Amino acid sequence: MADADSANEAKRFYEDVPTETPGFFLKGAGSLDWGMKNRLSRIFNPQTGKTVMLAIDHGYFQGPTTGLERIDLTIVPLMPYADALMLTRGILRTTVPASLTKPIVMRCSGGPSILKELSDEHLAVDIEDAIRMNVSAITLQVFIGGQFESRSVQNMTRLVDMGMRYGIPTMAVTAVGKEMVRDARYFRLACRICAELGAQIVKTYYVDKGFETVTASCPVPIVMAGGKKLPELDALTMAYNAIQEGAAGVDMGRNIFQSDAPKAMMKAVRKVVHEDMKPADAYELYQDLKKEEITGQD
Ligand code: R5P
Repeated sequence: MADADSANEAKRFYEDVPTETPGFFLKGAGSLDWGMKNRLSRIFNPQTGKTVMLAIDHGYFQGPTTGLERIDLTIVPLMPYADALMLTRGILRTTVPASLTKPIVMRCSGGPSILKELSDEHLAVDIEDAIRMNVSAITLQVFIGGQFESRSVQNMTRLVDMGMRYGIPTMAVTAVGKEMVRDARYFRLACRICAELGAQIVKTYYVDKGFETVTASCPVPIVMAGGKKLPELDALTMAYNAIQEGAAGVDMGRNIFQSDAPKAMMKAVRKVVHEDMKPADAYELYQDLKKEEITGQD
């Protein structure tokens, strides 16, 4: 017997409308699987293609560094203003409310403290535990040119393989030894190695000369690392320049949580990253918001 709707059946197939096969908004991610793309879309805002990540993982080798002594009191209130959080599983489980739905970028390497050779790292989290914590990405340091360069690269390729198995992207962080030259040539080398060997995101430092060649020669999104604390206007200028020169966001720690007004600084950085606000305007905004934050009116 003919179905009651059979006369309209053709209509529901929209044969005249071709199925779209859209690309993906993030560089280098077009061929990744759905789960990987979905996790990347939680970290990077699909509207702007950018992210403002808050890095608070310093304790994994530095202990309770300035500004991170009491994450429960000073950092948890900042978390809602970040697009993503980079931290350790210890801080996640002990201190971050499970009701917070911000994407987590989980620190997965460790070993040496600041008292030892920092490049002597190993993988320090099982992929099963990362999955259990519902992370959106996994991350580790890669020490190109460092004493344990080869092991850190192998740590990364193992982490990438584990992440690929479950659709979890890996963010490689280019760590630079104290005695090494921090220039565009070095960062081009380090970032490209990380991307060639499978990292889906690379976090690296800004350089005044030639940063656009670092972003251009890296086939995956680059997120700018914050580095040591700078005056707020300088940090906003650095973030602005990095974005204008091709970065897909920032992952800042000390320049946020060591600021006199961390919430104000985070909001100003967001304007620079997501709305291309000029550094001078963002600094003015920071100063206005700082007054409110300090008087407790925000
Ligand atoms: C690298 O050493 C770690 O990921 C850091 O703990 C973090 O990225 C540093 O952030 P920032 O340099 O912005 O304080």
